[in-house]
Amino acid sequence: MKRLFRLLLPLVALVLAAAIVLAAAIGDATAQQKPYSPSLGDLMTMTVQPRHTKLGLAAREGNWPYAAYELHELKEAFDRAAKAWPKWRTFSISEMMASVTKEPMAALDQAIKAAASGRVTTAYEQLTAACNTCHRSADRGVIVIQSPLASAFPDQDFRPVKE
Ligand code: HEC
Repeated sequence: MKRLFRLLLPLVALVLAAAIVLAAAIGDATAQQKPYSPSLGDLMTMTVQPRHTKLGLAAREGNWPYAAYELHELKEAFDRAAKAWPKWRTFSISEMMASVTKEPMAALDQAIKAAASGRVTTAYEQLTAACNTCHRSADRGVIVIQSPLASAFPDQDFRPVKE
């Protein structure tokens, strides 16, 4: 019995030590958990860029009800990004956002409501130019946005819904 105990003792000690290390690790992980706070670049990639792409694809298909919906989503994505990052480095994102996007967004809204294909294309190009104006002004001229060349969303149909 004594021998068995002596044999098992190191094993028990090992299991105990492992449990202590594990508990400490779990404690650390819980203590370090902070709410996820995306960078401005994350928000652009996650929320602004896909809306811009989808809007372009819908406009190309003449899908005005969906284009109107997606324009609204883009507006909200801009607003939320500016709210989360009113200031980014030395730049006032909220001011720049308003000054560069307001006009092309309004022109696009009008053109979509009028279902005027040519005007939508022009306004969309102006909006895309606004993305790049801000990137250049914020010293991020390497980020160049263009009209989508292809759909990045193969599981979504951008054609108008047939009634
Ligand atoms: C008010 C200024 C502003 C406007 C308007 C703006 N951006 Fe940005 N964008 C930035 C800044 C600043 C960064 C860099 C942020 C960073 O590095 O964290 C950025 C980053 C990005 C990125 C990440 C780059 C990458 O490849 O990882 C994408 C994509 C992007 N923007 C897309 C767009 C699109 C599309 C539009 C227009 C529909 C747009 N942005 C309009 C300021 C702007």
